[in-house]
Amino acid sequence: MKNLKLKTPEVDRNFECHFDSPFIEKNGLLEIHPEFIQAECLTKWSFEANLYEEPVWIDHFVITFPSRTALEKYAESFRPFGAKTVEGPDLFPINFCQSNINVPSDLWLHLMTLLMPAGGLVVLDAPHAVGDQTYRFQEQRGLEAVHHVAIRVENVHNAAITWETKNFKPLSPQPLNSRSLTQWFLQNPAGQIIELIERHPGNNATFDCKNIAGLRLSEKVSSQ
Ligand SMILES: [Fe+2]
Repeated sequence: MKNLKLKTPEVDRNFECHFDSPFIEKNGLLEIHPEFIQAECLTKWSFEANLYEEPVWIDHFVITFPSRTALEKYAESFRPFGAKTVEGPDLFPINFCQSNINVPSDLWLHLMTLLMPAGGLVVLDAPHAVGDQTYRFQEQRGLEAVHHVAIRVENVHNAAITWETKNFKPLSPQPLNSRSLTQWFLQNPAGQIIELIERHPGNNATFDCKNIAGLRLSEKVSSQ
């Protein structure tokens, strides 16, 4: 497995980020720039980016850790920088969703979400068991890999037309639609997933229990 070293959290008043975006495109796949992963950078970032030559507003993206302990240690580094915890840390979906959600345990994961000052969200995840889907994702693509980036849009259907011209195909026949969020996973031939998301103001969730089984299962179907 590749190793992404997370720098020790230290407050450096002269710290400057030298990049406009945390994302690096490599043969159609997205990775996170290791310098940008520092809390100093992510809390200063506007969440505007160019992805696949398209100017976008990033709603959220996922950083994967080898364990929940590593995830929580990294989250601690955001304390001095005004980030707020809005989801977790907890085991997803069973400790987030009260109703019975039909998600096989292979897809369960530890999850925590931080709200950045600019209004964007950083999702941290970690495998819940050796060999589960998140574990296999890390084994295959390394800890720098971005599982998915969610792009905030006004209309998911219209945005999907743009992304289909870039060779991203929907993973489910229709978007998942709850009262608070509309979400759709799309994937390119390299295997990179993007999420198109419509959200109502004031809602900082990155998933809705009504949507989540469909999203996770659409990904499962595509990887088989
Ligand atoms: Fe998402």
